[in-house]
Amino acid sequence: MTLPRILKSGLIPATRRTFARQTATRVMGDLNNTEAMREHVRPALDPTYQFNSFAILACDDDPVVREQYRPFLLSDEISKSDWIAKLELATAAKMVDTELLAQNKDRLRILVLYGSLRTRSFSKLLAYEASRILHRLGCDVRVYNPAGLPVKDDEQHDHPKVRELRELSKWSDGHVWISPEQHGNLTGVFKNQIDWIPLSTGSVRPTQGRTLAIAQVNGGSQSFNAVNSLRILGRWMRMFTIPNQSSIPQAWTHFTDADDPVEGGNRLKPSSNRDRLVDCMEELVKYTIVMRPHFDLFGDRFSEREEAKAKK
Ligand SMILES: Cc1cc2nc3c(=O)[nH]c(=O)nc-3n(C[C@H](O)[C@H](O)[C@H](O)COP(=O)(O)O)c2cc1C
Repeated sequence: MTLPRILKSGLIPATRRTFARQTATRVMGDLNNTEAMREHVRPALDPTYQFNSFAILACDDDPVVREQYRPFLLSDEISKSDWIAKLELATAAKMVDTELLAQNKDRLRILVLYGSLRTRSFSKLLAYEASRILHRLGCDVRVYNPAGLPVKDDEQHDHPKVRELRELSKWSDGHVWISPEQHGNLTGVFKNQIDWIPLSTGSVRPTQGRTLAIAQVNGGSQSFNAVNSLRILGRWMRMFTIPNQSSIPQAWTHFTDADDPVEGGNRLKPSSNRDRLVDCMEELVKYTIVMRPHFDLFGDRFSEREEAKAKK
């Protein structure tokens, strides 16, 4: 057994682990600065929650919302047995149950935006997979279709697509943003949506303090340019962007064909990239549960209090 394995195995009593780690460091070097690491305690997994689904059932859902905003939904037969149904999501699922549903609190309201108008758009397909994970975790997920949204100007504030986007943003607790990378950056289709969301209208700040998960699809073999830009954009909208992020390289190789009979077709194939998408959605749910009760607290700024005082 190698030294790191021995350390992980628990064969060495806790009191002697620090000494053993220091010895290992001296012998092998410490590329990852493990010597400075805090003891990490993995939350105990509650097996009763491993494969639970808290998805909103058709009979409990608003049919108009379901029709307009949940294009990611598949038949019951598929969603009960597909790869998402088989994910072990015990910790996040338990949080959803004990901290929201069992206390009759609202489901997390998640707005999903993607950045392409192509029929078979991989950012849209990725947005749908992300939505399915969040749906299973009990979120009220709404995907906005950017088709028909005018190019940002200073006139069309009453355009139905503009109003719809703004209403969704006001409604949401958290967002998922997924853009293709084009010319080393996010797309105009994506940015145009954010440009239509005002930072504030009167006292309402539709994005401030909300949580945000980001992802991108690439034609190239690997890149993070779009997620880096999305992160900056999230900061500009005063959102809390979760640490993890997903980037799907050579996206055309990662999805099954539209007419593939397995799991309804257009599905994300198994890979470490797919696992990473799950990580991101699970993390978004955890952060949003923790942060939602404190949105107003985090939005309270010294400089703005001073400004308000001066105005009075
Ligand atoms: C004009 C143009 C520029 C592109 N630039 C990049 C790029 O800089 N990096 C990259 O990885 N892929 C690039 N691609 C590939 C796209 O990211 C890829 O086709 C992606 O699937 C498009 O998103 P969609 O499928 O959601 O429409 C580019 C594609 C186009 C059409």
